[in-house]
Amino acid sequence: VVKLGLDMPKLFETLDDFYQSSFVSIEQLNLNSATELINLIKQTKDNPNSLSNRAKNKILYSLFFNDSTRTRFSTETAWLKLGGQIVSQVGTNGSSLNKGETMYHTLATYASYLPDIIAIRCNEANLPLKATTWFPSISWVNCGDASNEHPTQAILDLFTISEVISDISKLKIAFVGDIKHGRTVRSLSKLLNLFGAQMYFVAPVSLQNQKEYELDKISYQYVDIENLIDIVQEVDIIYATRPQIERMNDSDKQKYQNGVYQITNQIMNSTRAKLLHPLPIDSSVFPEIHPEVDSHPQALYFQQMENGLYARMAILSLIVSGNQVFTNNNQTNKNFKSY
Ligand code: NCD
Repeated sequence: VVKLGLDMPKLFETLDDFYQSSFVSIEQLNLNSATELINLIKQTKDNPNSLSNRAKNKILYSLFFNDSTRTRFSTETAWLKLGGQIVSQVGTNGSSLNKGETMYHTLATYASYLPDIIAIRCNEANLPLKATTWFPSISWVNCGDASNEHPTQAILDLFTISEVISDISKLKIAFVGDIKHGRTVRSLSKLLNLFGAQMYFVAPVSLQNQKEYELDKISYQYVDIENLIDIVQEVDIIYATRPQIERMNDSDKQKYQNGVYQITNQIMNSTRAKLLHPLPIDSSVFPEIHPEVDSHPQALYFQQMENGLYARMAILSLIVSGNQVFTNNNQTNKNFKSY
């Protein structure tokens, strides 16, 4: 598969294909590998200690050039729980990027010191994909590239959905908010598309991204944000997102800062749907989820955040030590249908 004239790294037909590969796009997965991965994360969550030596004597470079709380801490903690060691870069402080060095030279430097794996978050779309073609001997893990993709987040999101919905092909989900700039929606919608889930994109027209999603053959229905109340009653999952103010033009910014929508307890009480959000919620102007919802029984975003640890333990261990059979259990997620 070629994207932007660049070869995509290996496609994952089964979990064995993760070994020593890069994971830069959710498009590398198919229905089988996605299902197997969800089952492995379930086993990891049930028995996290079983993976404790998978990264022994191995080195992760953790390059978070852009802000992150959950993705960095869960990735680094996952790696430490696998028994590995870390060198990390947070922002560009202390890096020669601040002396005008190119990203290519910077990444060439990191690659030359033989880390086993490099996790990268950056503000350039497709930089992780480029890195896999520049330095193919390294396993690169995309932890979010601009508005483009966030594949490990999509996996933990799907895992969280699988904890409450057994048959993803029957799932109805409403993505709410900034569809255009959000990378988590871009990756998760591609993943759910494999399962044939029914997806609604709820946003003002200027924050849709219909052309691109059509090109990617993502099947969804558009719902205007004014119909939020109606659509939440139809769906199993509401996936709210943060307005990506830092990526918006002035008119979209203005719109959002006036508060286009907010999920409240009143909305949650009108539906049986569970509420996800990749977090963070932007509390600075008009939080897209009212703080009262944090303790609502249908709010699953803290459970979702916690699952990031298990998802990343499973993914990183597959990459550095392969798909070894679990030592003392091989049960699968009984709640999750096989495809
Ligand atoms: C998101 C991200 O960084 O893409 N958060 C996350 O990784 N959990 C969402 C966001 O920034 O809005």
